[in-house]
Parts: sequence; structure tokens; C-alpha cells
Amino acid sequence: MNDSQPIAENKQTPFLSPPLDSEATRPEPSGLFNNNPVNLAVLGELAGQNILSATQFTFDQVAELCKLAAVLEKIEIWPYHPLDGKIVVTAFFEPSTRTRISFESAVHRLGGKVISIADGTTTGQAKGESLGDIGEMFNAYADLVVMRHTETTAPEQILDNMRIPLVNAGNGSGEHPTQALADWFALLKWKPELAAPKLPDEPKLHLGILGTPGSMRAVKSFLLLSLLFKDHIAKVTVISEMADPFGEDVISHLTEADIAYEVTNDIQETIADLDVIYMNSIAFLGDSYKSLDARYKLDSNSPLKPNAVILHPLARLNELDTSLDKTPHNLYFSQAHGAVFIRQALLVATLGRLDSLPDLEHAGKLADQD
Ligand code: CP
Repeated sequence: MNDSQPIAENKQTPFLSPPLDSEATRPEPSGLFNNNPVNLAVLGELAGQNILSATQFTFDQVAELCKLAAVLEKIEIWPYHPLDGKIVVTAFFEPSTRTRISFESAVHRLGGKVISIADGTTTGQAKGESLGDIGEMFNAYADLVVMRHTETTAPEQILDNMRIPLVNAGNGSGEHPTQALADWFALLKWKPELAAPKLPDEPKLHLGILGTPGSMRAVKSFLLLSLLFKDHIAKVTVISEMADPFGEDVISHLTEADIAYEVTNDIQETIADLDVIYMNSIAFLGDSYKSLDARYKLDSNSPLKPNAVILHPLARLNELDTSLDKTPHNLYFSQAHGAVFIRQALLVATLGRLDSLPDLEHAGKLADQD
């Protein structure tokens, strides 16, 4: 905590995304940090770390990242410029709308600087340069790299040569760990009690996943991160046309977590029982994409539980109809908007700048009074 820096007492409007102008679910962040201060010591564990897989996080790290993100969503952070002097490279060797821009927005709002590679073909890759050699250069030009690549082995290819943290922003059919953080940030704002040990009378959630964890990286990372919250989860149901949608790696984590799960190819038999529905449209198969089976489509006439919420990492195709956008089932816009703040929290922690933040408890209380 930097006591030498004043708390922003000004009443300027804090940065919040524009209102959704609809019934879409947009949970208030304060529920996550009121009477529950952020534990900076837990977040200090992330300093200098590569962020490669959802499996690397502890429950406490995810809960504290989400609490810090909730404060950052409520306060004006720009006067403190916690990433002053830091340079982040966003190296995207595959298209992105949300991930690259939300990371870059996060860095800018924290007072850092960005070098942006929006298209890998503008790098030496177009001339046959190896990722290892590109990584060696990144050490000299930046303090952290956020990389997305079509190849699942891309992090392995670059890591040997890197001496600054690497954040995996999606590697082929591998993982998308910061998307999973954004997913759970949305869920913890929706139900802040999930960020604490489960109380005896608290109902457990039935989690539904429309997709293929074995080949959809966002789905895989969401499922793997969900295992940290297993005490709050009654069951995971995966709805997929594949008999084995998991793959060996995911199965071993499911088995180790000892969580109840089932697979079905019939969306109708289970949809009305789900509290949270996570869906995605695209499986990454090397250089090509495979869309979700046409049977698996939700719209405002789908027989959802009244309080059920839908998460989708986006981009969507036909599986998530726009008729759901203005309904309370829509948590996916909140999920996408919150990505800026969870990525801010992650960057401040991995770049070792937690001590440049204001007094979070005081700042959060002030913001909540506004
Ligand atoms: N959620 C997500 O990864 O979106 P983009 O592909 O637009 O980055």
C-alpha cells in the first residue's frame, strides 16, 4: 500500500462501462469487497509469475484477484498510475476483439504503455523466424508479454527464451486462463458468497457447459478454474455431441477434484435444471475452426430457470440468440465488460506493483458512497 499517495476524494464519475439499457444482469461489484478487504499478501504470490493455465491458481488467489478487480471497477485508478514505467507487449498471432483490447485498455488505465502486435504476420514470423527468437527480443523491449497463438505448443516454444512474465491469452486448443478469471469475476459479482467457504444452508449450483472442454480452450479453462469452487457446485453437466468431450488432461483434473459430473447430448433433458450455463461456439483445431453443433442453441424461448445466468466468452455465432441480450439471463455482457478490471488486477499483481495502489479499503468505501 502506498501511504504517500492521497486517496482520490474527487467526485468525478468513476470509470464504469456505459449502462446496458436493458434487463441484462449487471451485478454491483461492491458486494465482493464490502467488509472483506483485499488480501494483498495473497496477490503478492503472483509477482513475476507466468500465467499459463487455470490450474495454476489457488482458490484464495482467484478470490483476491476478483476482489481487487471489484474495487478497481468502482474507483478512479488513473491518478495512481500503478504501472508507470512498465511496458506490456500484446502479441496476437490470432484474431481477437476482447482479449487484446481489454488487456490494452487495462494497461492504459493503469498508466503503463503498450506495444501492440495485432497481427503476427507483421513480425519476423512471416519470414520464418522462430517464436523462441521473437521471445528473446521481447525481453529487451518490454516488462511482460500477453500472447495469443493458433498453436497449442506456442507457450512452450517461447518460454525457454523469456525472462519476463508471459500471459497466455489463448493457445490453440489449449487454454485461456485469463478468460476463466473474467468468467469467475462475473459469477462472484453475481453471487459474492461464492468467494468464501460454503455455508451449510447455502444452495449449490448446477453448472452446465455447452461445448467441448477437450478442444475449446475457454471452456476448458472455465471448467478447470471451476474445480476450485467445487464446494459450491452440486454437479457439472456437459452438453456435447461427443461421447468424450474432455480429453485425458481434463478427466484427470475432474477425477482428482472428485466433483460430480455427467455428459449428455440432449439439451432438452437438462436445460431447465441449470443455474449457470457456459457456452462457446468455436473449437480451435490447428488453423481451422469447428462450430458448436446446430442442435445447441439458446434463445429467449428456451426453458431456462428464471434465475439462470448465461456466460459466453464471445464471439458468438448462432448458438446464442440476440433475443437473450435484454433478459436477466444475460451475464455475458457483464463478463466481457469486467474483463478490463480482472486484467488490471492480474497485471498489477504479476508486475509487482501492488504497493502502488491506493488504500483499497478507503477508496472502495468512498466509491460506494457515491
Ligand atoms: N473471449 C475472447 O477470447 O474473445 P476474443 O477472441 O475476441 O479475444
